[in-house]
Amino acid sequence: MDATGFRRLWDEIDPIGRADTGGYVRFSWSDADLALRAWFDAQAAERGMRVETDRNGNRFAWWDPEPEQVVDPAAPRRHGAVLTGSHFDSVPHGGAYDGPLGIVSAFLAVDELRRDLRATGATLKRPIAIAAFTEEEGGRFGIPCLGSRLMTGAVDADRARGLTDRDGTTLADAMRAAGADPDALGPDPERLQRIGAFVELHVEQGRALDGEGDAAVGVASAIWPHGRWRVVVTGAGDHAGTTRLPDRHDPMLTFAFAVLAARKEARLAGGLATIGRVEAVPNATNAIASQVTAWLDARAPDEGVLGEILSGFKSKVHERAARDGTHVRISRESETPVVEFDLELRDRIAALLGGAPVLPTGAGHDAGVLAAHVPTAMLFVRNPTGVSHAPGEHASDEDCAAGVDALAAVLRDLAC
Ligand code: GLV
Ligand code: MN
Ligand code: MN
Ligand code: MN
Repeated sequence: MDATGFRRLWDEIDPIGRADTGGYVRFSWSDADLALRAWFDAQAAERGMRVETDRNGNRFAWWDPEPEQVVDPAAPRRHGAVLTGSHFDSVPHGGAYDGPLGIVSAFLAVDELRRDLRATGATLKRPIAIAAFTEEEGGRFGIPCLGSRLMTGAVDADRARGLTDRDGTTLADAMRAAGADPDALGPDPERLQRIGAFVELHVEQGRALDGEGDAAVGVASAIWPHGRWRVVVTGAGDHAGTTRLPDRHDPMLTFAFAVLAARKEARLAGGLATIGRVEAVPNATNAIASQVTAWLDARAPDEGVLGEILSGFKSKVHERAARDGTHVRISRESETPVVEFDLELRDRIAALLGGAPVLPTGAGHDAGVLAAHVPTAMLFVRNPTGVSHAPGEHASDEDCAAGVDALAAVLRDLAC
């Protein structure tokens, strides 16, 4: 397709949730999310696609084949739907493309495939569905890929209902306020059974395609194991002007050490660790904090390295807390093992795309969750800045259009 066709549809969602930082705040179940869901429904309706919202708030638009074309309705695993799509939600002040690119591209790929079927007389043999998964970033409720994890049973529904956002609103209340039913949350094996394969298109979150790869579109090989840990440091709140230095139990000191320790342990072990979020209580300029909560995000090429980073980090931070006279509690919020995408599907797609580069990623995706249940693959669209989870994230309209062409070719290959 041409770049202007991509831009036309992209511009429809571009203003939704854009903040004055130039980034996007599209938290799940917020007004921006609901506006994007309404847009999704309108796009599906325009194409005669049937919309379903599952018990976990994930949205699906279905394009069903004519009944006589279905290969074997009794074998949904082999002949189930080809699912594509991604997520609408963003991290706070994130980029425009992470998530929505996969959904916009999916609708455009459906258009392209339809034109192709009309021109060639070929028919659809498996249903095609477009997904918009809920709370992929964990930007509001803390657990990434929450919608797909609930669907596959990887997260307990009671735990999910009680998760709170920064304002203390629970997921259950946020869903109710948006007109959804939190009591319905839970595993959905029947829906999972209807999916034969999942292909998620995503903006690249590094610069491999722009550099050595030199290609508009690549194929994912694997997702690094990764996780999130909550670090709560408790000390003693006191007056900044009257408390002698030796008398302090300052959790901010332990926290500052933890930021450096995370980086050092990651460097020594050969992985990545980030503390990108912190909350201090009472958060006053002239008071020693009583408590500091920080979130550690750690990722590594394999689980051994991830384990090394974690154990090094924990022991160093506990040692330091003892010196600072503070108390530290480190608890796991989520953890995802290494994901190797389906080898057959990945090689088939790379060949179909004329030998597209195959690359691993350190970013998590719903595709990583679904990969444990259905053959799954990912397409990456070149990002010349390499930036992601920040406003500088970018992909050119031409490359996005190339992504649509690639996705349409994959859908044709798998569903026709
Ligand atoms: C989600 O995008 C993540 O990898 O953090
Ligand atoms: Mn994403
Ligand atoms: Mn992301
Ligand atoms: Mn992600």
